[in-house]
Amino acid sequence: MYSRMMRLTEQAKAIMARNWRDGFTVPTDKLYPFQWNWDSGFAAMAFSHYDLDKGIQELQSLFSGQWQNGMLPHILFHSEKETTYFPNFDFWECWVNPGAPNKPKTSGITQPPVHGFAIEHMLDQHPDSEKLKGFIKELFPKIIAYHQFLYTHRDPNQEKLFFIYHPWESGRDNSPIWDESLERIVIEPGSLPDYKRRDTSIADAEERPTQQQYDRYVYLVELGKKHRYEGPGIAAESPFLLQDCMMNAILIASNQSLLRIANRLGIDPGPLPEWIQEGRKNFHDKFWNNSIGQYATYDLRGEYLIQHREIGGLVALFAEIPDERNSAQLAVYLQQLSNRGYLLCPSFDVESPLFDSKRYWRGPVWPHMNWLIAKGLVKYGYDQLADQLKNDLLLLVDQLGFYEYYEAEKSKISQLDRGYGGAHFTWTATIILNFLEGNS
Ligand code: DGY
Repeated sequence: MYSRMMRLTEQAKAIMARNWRDGFTVPTDKLYPFQWNWDSGFAAMAFSHYDLDKGIQELQSLFSGQWQNGMLPHILFHSEKETTYFPNFDFWECWVNPGAPNKPKTSGITQPPVHGFAIEHMLDQHPDSEKLKGFIKELFPKIIAYHQFLYTHRDPNQEKLFFIYHPWESGRDNSPIWDESLERIVIEPGSLPDYKRRDTSIADAEERPTQQQYDRYVYLVELGKKHRYEGPGIAAESPFLLQDCMMNAILIASNQSLLRIANRLGIDPGPLPEWIQEGRKNFHDKFWNNSIGQYATYDLRGEYLIQHREIGGLVALFAEIPDERNSAQLAVYLQQLSNRGYLLCPSFDVESPLFDSKRYWRGPVWPHMNWLIAKGLVKYGYDQLADQLKNDLLLLVDQLGFYEYYEAEKSKISQLDRGYGGAHFTWTATIILNFLEGNS
């Protein structure tokens, strides 16, 4: 056991080194050869366990791509020479918005706002580092500006629950929860610009989203571009407009972290208490769904809750939103998953006909999501479940390597010699380091 932990830690650090690019980390070369927003938040947390300077540089680099309106883009194209990724910087055309930086060029959408809790995690590792405290004081107002952007541009009903208009923003690109909303998009023949996917020549096409889904992803990029990637036009026109329960849980968790940091470091908390109070109340009232016994995502265009059990609905535990009864329901759901032979939470409901154990977010196991859930379980006193989840993940990574995601059916795992998607994957390494080296 001890030697497995040592081995995994060494391997994880080697992957972090391999993916480091002079100031930031790529998720993996070729498939994702730039800096990704939430991947970087996880990288910063992991670096804080053994190389704080790199963790600080990672976030400094990420926030160098922040727009003047506060938006923190989902990709920073630090190099304009990489050609293995679509849509590249030239396809996004972010110059349509005068507040977008020219260097680095960026995408025009965002991703889960993990940075508030990322810096709290870093501070927990180094409570006495003056350098880190100084850095946090500089970054704090930038994170507040980012959250303010979400509430200003993406919250038309002033509920302190923001919307996304692209599945890539949610991080859970092709989850079945988006299917029905995406079907609303009608693509007239010849209306999309010509484009060539790169992902399917690097990763197995069966592990990636379908062509029909990609056409819709491109349609939504074009829609964003048309509205200069700004809120009101998008809110008025986008057929895909959702208040994602995972994104909003992550925002609330980050706000809570920021408030604790403000208290610790004597920083003015500004609007944080109000954001937290309203956000938590509306989250619970709007997203809890008795018939699935979980939180769910709200389709703002169709005005209904999307009633599927999926991994995003469990992240509320991490933000400490559920009351005792609701948290117990979520824990029972997780306990029942262990009947499959291991506890790890798949990205989608194994009992649904839409479940696909291999295809990206339609079923596979994602390490960073399981870490968020394990942390959430501990907050509610389910330590044993959290430990089981951690141990199952360590075994899986030890057996199959550091991949982007993994087969969700235990019975199929023994026949495999690798995980799915990208290899040498940063966030899998970060989660191993967080589990094995963490202070909190
Ligand atoms: C991709 O390209 O698959 C990413 O998830 C988009 O950020």
